[in-house]
Amino acid sequence: MKSFFQPLGSQSYGKNASIPSASEFSTLKETILRELDNYEKQLKNQDVEPPFLSESRPHPQLDNPEFLPSHELFQCRRTLLGALGMMSDLVLGPTEKLIKDTLSHHLTTAINIATRLNIADHLEKAGPKGMTSQELREVTGTNSDRITKTLRFLSNNNLFSEVEEGRFANNRFSICLIDGSPLKSWSTWQTSFSLKSAPLVPENWTDEETTDDFDIRAAAPQKAYGIPYNMNIWSFGAKHMFKQFVEFGEAMTAYGSSGIAGLLADFPWNGFQEGTTIVDVGGGKGAMLLPILKNYKHLKGVVQDLESTVPQAKENFETRCPEAIQEGRVEFQAIDFFQPQPRSGEKLVYMLRWVIHDWNDEESVKILTNQANAMSEDSRLLIIDTILQPAIKDKTIPRSGGLAGQTLLLVDFEMMAAINATERTVQQVENLLRRSGLVLEKVYSPGSSFRSPHGVIVARKA
Ligand SMILES: C[S@@+](CC[C@H](N)C(=O)[O-])C[C@H]1O[C@@H](n2cnc3c(N)ncnc32)[C@H](O)[C@@H]1O
Repeated sequence: MKSFFQPLGSQSYGKNASIPSASEFSTLKETILRELDNYEKQLKNQDVEPPFLSESRPHPQLDNPEFLPSHELFQCRRTLLGALGMMSDLVLGPTEKLIKDTLSHHLTTAINIATRLNIADHLEKAGPKGMTSQELREVTGTNSDRITKTLRFLSNNNLFSEVEEGRFANNRFSICLIDGSPLKSWSTWQTSFSLKSAPLVPENWTDEETTDDFDIRAAAPQKAYGIPYNMNIWSFGAKHMFKQFVEFGEAMTAYGSSGIAGLLADFPWNGFQEGTTIVDVGGGKGAMLLPILKNYKHLKGVVQDLESTVPQAKENFETRCPEAIQEGRVEFQAIDFFQPQPRSGEKLVYMLRWVIHDWNDEESVKILTNQANAMSEDSRLLIIDTILQPAIKDKTIPRSGGLAGQTLLLVDFEMMAAINATERTVQQVENLLRRSGLVLEKVYSPGSSFRSPHGVIVARKA
């Protein structure tokens, strides 16, 4: 009988591996040691305080969404994270890794419990000495043993601190779960909405009835939430889950600010002539257009979105960039991007940030075709989305980034699990462009010269 700890097929390990295991270890070790030194050096070069885990305060630079790392720091961080993630798995080994990964939904559950009980808010009031589980029981009404179990598990994952046995305090990470933080909305939304439909995803993706069906109404939440077939998650949410969908809007702010600093600095916005108008198609609150107009005064913009969203964009500009309204550099327009694009003419750039990734191929082609039909020779179309890469290892770290790419791959997985949508590779986007009467002109992918986790694909009329 095989021992429990004998991984199946272990005899053939190494035979087909492209890199002999001994050199894989030493390459990773060398990469980690080199990049750790480099990371420290790059932080110093930019006058950035070394990062920390336990202190209950945000890191003044690294936790500021407007912080722009130097090109070297951006690239070094990616390599370091990729190598550290691989080394951690390598040292863990298959048994411990698989047990850990297959039970990782309990981490999601534990975050849900902590947010539901507003633990971070209670701990914030208590200050550095923190609170015991018994004291937390008094303010939450939840059994203290369950509180200990939850917070110890989260502290072991650096999401709180256990400062003495059974006594917990906030740290740099848990303060992001305090009320009002967009990351609290993100955590509340993801750990409830997604968790409820996740168990239905494997069947949904493999069942012969649904495996080839990419209609939003065929996605797992439809069944999980009992949504009738004449509604999709968005129309159902607006009617029956209004509070949760307000939470969703806030949650998107947390994700929305990521990478904007790099997109602003490294995309050649100055290459567009004076008076060029950026048409922000499906622009939401204008989260991308607003900083563009704030930083590039020679540009104008139009936020286009559904009628119900346009007031939010107006309010956002009134609060955060009133000068663009006063200078007549921004307009707001209610549209349906499944209808012909109403803006056409000279000096127009159509921008779709996180729009195409919400839709399956057929619907994406409709949206893109509507833009293509309005475009002239000199117009450009920008698709700002995650650019998926295969997990092929050219040297040591997968092109998809390993731990550095994990957030993007999780969001990609979530897109399909929740709404049958997807992030795409450059080639997949190129296919959509071709079907829509457009051609790919240039790709800006994350890397040392483009400091954003998301890429920009520039297209013109075919
Ligand atoms: C993921 S959000 C992206 C928002 C914005 N581009 C950003 O980067 O923050 C997708 C946006 O598409 C909008 N949208 C959905 N269906 C639409 C339609 N048929 N016509 C216009 N906008 C639509 C939504 O209201 C939402 O604001």
